[in-house]
Amino acid sequence: MKHPDVVILGAGAAGLMCALTAGYQGRRVLVLDHANKAGKKILMSGGGRCNFTNLATSPANFFSENPRFCISALKRYRPEHFVELVERHSLEYVEKAAGQLFCAHSAKELLRTLLTECDWAGVEIRLKTAVESIEPQGEGMRLQTSAGRIDTGAVVIATGGLSIPTLGASGFGYEIARRFGLRVTETRPALVPFTLTSGWKTRAADLAGVSCEVAVRCRGREYREPMLLTHRGLSGPAMLQISSHWQPGDEIEIDLLPGFDIRGCLIEARRATPKRRLSTLLSEHLPKRLAQALIEWHGDDGPLAERSNANLEGWAGRLGRLRIKPAGTEGWRTAEVTLGGVDTRRISSQSFAVDNVPQLRFIGEVLDVTGELGGYNFQWAWASGVACGLTV
Ligand code: FDA
Repeated sequence: MKHPDVVILGAGAAGLMCALTAGYQGRRVLVLDHANKAGKKILMSGGGRCNFTNLATSPANFFSENPRFCISALKRYRPEHFVELVERHSLEYVEKAAGQLFCAHSAKELLRTLLTECDWAGVEIRLKTAVESIEPQGEGMRLQTSAGRIDTGAVVIATGGLSIPTLGASGFGYEIARRFGLRVTETRPALVPFTLTSGWKTRAADLAGVSCEVAVRCRGREYREPMLLTHRGLSGPAMLQISSHWQPGDEIEIDLLPGFDIRGCLIEARRATPKRRLSTLLSEHLPKRLAQALIEWHGDDGPLAERSNANLEGWAGRLGRLRIKPAGTEGWRTAEVTLGGVDTRRISSQSFAVDNVPQLRFIGEVLDVTGELGGYNFQWAWASGVACGLTV
């Protein structure tokens, strides 16, 4: 393609969606990516089955310094629209948790669908191509790339966030934003497991593989989802969700028996079954290994009859409000997303164009819009890609 109307940087979820949408609008679209394969994160996501949307998507599932920015695109391109695309290609999918749609077989099928659509829309995708510079040229843009110079009408930056550098992540989108005078909000890894300090680390490692539903709280937010103990610390959906709110030095509070009146249960059990040991009772409500470990950590497994009210209150607090101060997170190496990014206040929520440089646009995760766990981040990639593709 000699003179594309649009060059899209990044052949990920947002870039491909934007490309096929613009292609169907009759635009000549060239997608460039420095990686050797398109859509690597799509392939890796959802344990290889890609949680590609969430039927309950609403702006409340996203975090940003400018929370209203995402509303328009999410309203115009909804989960049902993406489901329609998936069904048109006879791709089978399953609803795992409420509203969370995953490929029934493999994320490869979803990527194939997007690449097929790009092909039908006449999009050219060039991989292993690095972009050295982007400069305004008249009303368009001039790019210097590892494959030579490209003049184009518009450039869309869809280079994603910083998580998992081995999958092609780079800070290039932020560099371009700064070069054009845009602010980049503070970025940090999110939807990421916690690491622990020595005492808790050993305890978690001893229980690696144990999982249970918890309610976890931090900074006024609460998530009720499964927690997984690992050799490195705390993981599972509950921990990934709360990591988006956690700041270094914060404690997290874990309710190991959410929605269950453990205090009342302990008092009633002391009356009804006084000879029973606490470990036996806890094993009925928690994974056995976790129940036994809790008893061992506190060296306290006498029969219920020997327990004072204060002792039972102590246990109720320990189980309902376990406070842990994580050492940190696993960082960019395993984070699913980047919190923060290109400040959206100078970007149109309709077209995603930069206010004083309309031939430059930003979409997807590179922007300061971050979704919760559960298919929301892909829905943002699709919705922002379509909004931009229709107007570029
Ligand atoms: P994305 O990162 O997908 O694409 C960016 C593209 O730009 C890449 O192809 C990259 O190679 C390219 N690029 C970067 N720098 C470049 C440069 N300098 N020059 C050229 N190209 C460049 N979300 C969800 O909703 N459901 C899920 O199940 C999961 N699961 C999940 C698992 C794991 C392990 C991760 C890491 C992430 C998820 N996510 C997720 C998040 C989701 O993958 C993410 O939000 C989207 O892929 C973002 O789409 P983008 O297109 O914005 O960036």
